[in-house]
Amino acid sequence: MKIASIVGARPNFVKLAPVSREIRKGFDEIIIHTGQHYDYQMDRIFFQELGIPKPDYHLGVGSASHGHQTGEMLKGIEDALLKEKPDLALVFGDTNTTLAGALAAAKLHIPVAHVEAGLRSFDKKMPEEVNRVLVDHCSDLLSCPTKTAVDNLKKEGIAKGVHLTGDVMADILKDCISIALKSSKILEELALSPKEYYLATVHRAENTDDPKRLKSIIDALCDIENVVFACHPRTERLLRERGLLDILKEKVKVIKPVGYLDMLLLENNARKILTDSGGVQKEAYMLKVPCITMRDETEWVETIDDGWNVLAGADRKTIVKAALEFDPASEQREMFGKGDASVRIVKAMKDYLIDRSLEKSQGID
Ligand code: UD1
Ligand code: UDP
Repeated sequence: MKIASIVGARPNFVKLAPVSREIRKGFDEIIIHTGQHYDYQMDRIFFQELGIPKPDYHLGVGSASHGHQTGEMLKGIEDALLKEKPDLALVFGDTNTTLAGALAAAKLHIPVAHVEAGLRSFDKKMPEEVNRVLVDHCSDLLSCPTKTAVDNLKKEGIAKGVHLTGDVMADILKDCISIALKSSKILEELALSPKEYYLATVHRAENTDDPKRLKSIIDALCDIENVVFACHPRTERLLRERGLLDILKEKVKVIKPVGYLDMLLLENNARKILTDSGGVQKEAYMLKVPCITMRDETEWVETIDDGWNVLAGADRKTIVKAALEFDPASEQREMFGKGDASVRIVKAMKDYLIDRSLEKSQGID
């Protein structure tokens, strides 16, 4: 049995790492990399640190408008799938790579498994929301990280093939946190003391592409003392174009994106985290670091309900107030699983493929 794992962007790589390890215990795996992300710090560092095997196909698509980028990926993925004829295609999260992978496979009648299915922000202006909805509706196996995700799918009429597996980001975090604590030197390199700095990331289109929202977030980060900002290349480019980068650098420690191990250490030792990233919100929760989400809504509603995450939008005053005052006091639930999501996902894929081959041999398909 052959699985084709399709990835291309930073959060795809983090999710692939634990699943790929598990897949290779019982299946052949080929990895198709679209090249959506390509800077060393956004791409190869994750393969190296997380021991992800070298991709079998690298499509080199790179950056472009959504339609152009997704179209190029679709062509390249289709060619690779036609050549490899995998039994199942595996896609992760909600990027344009995820959509292209699911669509290419579904059109070739290759079953699609979606890791991190059922997440919704209910905002169709978010490119990720369009991707998620479409991918879920053409997937055969849907791995949900949370009960909320299962319920979201049910409301859209999707129940077949749905599995509540937990979150693969809990698996990889549990695997890597002790390694990060031992090996990362990022605090010394940046002269940071534990719990004395705030960690920020910003990259969502709704924040970066709207000049008012980005300016307001940047003003807030400048108002807060001791912020380290791991700046996504998209954000860096837009800040430079709008003449904001130098102003920001006067008040805030702006650094390039870091690798996963350095990121875990930065997160673990931060006083609070300010972010618009989906993955970072979950990691903040799992590391018990208060999180201020600079968005108007989140897919990870459990972290809000549990009191460890707060929505601040892009409003300068609200962000600064939360940075100073937000103080979660509550206990936590183990809401992202026990760190065995990858095992559950691979078991679900195996069961699915066995059932399918039985049906085929009986002429049911
Ligand atoms: C993508 C995903 C988003 C995810 C994010 C994770 C989509 C629609 N969006 O957003 O869901 O949260 O990745 O990081 O798929 N760039 C570089 N070097 C790189 C990659 C990007 O300079 O290695 C710059 C380019 O200017 C590019 C811009 O970032 O135009 C945006 O890249 P793109 O992959 O289109 O979207 P992201 O904002 O990274
Ligand atoms: N991440 C990282 N270095 C950084 C910023 C993020 O390793 O400089 C990791 C982060 O720890 C998480 C993943 O990238 O595991 C989240 O990806 P991102 O924020 O790019 O996308 P999202 O989760 O919002 O889709």
